[in-house]
Amino acid sequence: MADLTSNFIGIKSPNPFWLASAPPTDKEYNVRRAFEAGWGGVVWKTLGSEGPPIVNVNGPRYGVVHGADRRVLGLNNIELITDRDLFKNLDEIKRVKKDYPDRAIIVSIMVPCEEDAWKTILPLVEETGADGIELNFGCPHGMAERGMGSAVGQVPEYVEMVTGWCKKYYSKPVIVKLNQIFRTSENLQPQHKLVAQMQFH
Ligand SMILES: Cc1cc2nc3c(=O)[nH]c(=O)nc-3n(C[C@H](O)[C@H](O)[C@H](O)COP(=O)(O)O)c2cc1C
Repeated sequence: MADLTSNFIGIKSPNPFWLASAPPTDKEYNVRRAFEAGWGGVVWKTLGSEGPPIVNVNGPRYGVVHGADRRVLGLNNIELITDRDLFKNLDEIKRVKKDYPDRAIIVSIMVPCEEDAWKTILPLVEETGADGIELNFGCPHGMAERGMGSAVGQVPEYVEMVTGWCKKYYSKPVIVKLNQIFRTSENLQPQHKLVAQMQFH
């Protein structure tokens, strides 16, 4: 059989097919099902700080984008980050990683742009044994209004600052997730390029 093993910035997995952070990766039950189905890795549904719970959408996770004539132009995801307890998520991540040591588990994180918030959560995430973290600097709705998600991703200096804290308080690989407007290299500002280099060294 063809060798599909993957090594992405030091994170090994039996194949390069990973589930993005979203409902299919939001809890132990779903991630176990994904691994049983053969997925090589998952990015766990984004965790936030311990505190007042996030109130998420209940039911449809998409809002319709209408044109001037009310024709449907597209669908927009309106789900926020996890609405589940931080410590319950961390326990589940630890358990699943222990049972599937060969699969990649990345923990997506979104906490305020304050060093203390990152200093608090990163050791807890490291303790789970997960393979790396992904910084959710891409989410364009709901959290951006609170100074997180894409509000950070659009300011290269903030991206650099927070990534620096992650390299300081976390020993494993750090992935920076940006919004699609940064996907083309022409849109990558010099500081974003610097951050990308930090990930790959
Ligand atoms: C319902 C829903 C919830 C999502 N939740 C998150 C999230 O918590 N964190 C995150 O980084 N991305 C989240 N995403 C974005 C996905 O991880 C992914 O980046 C996006 O769907 C684009 O990939 P696709 O084109 O394969 O759908 C979510 C997407 C959807 C549709």
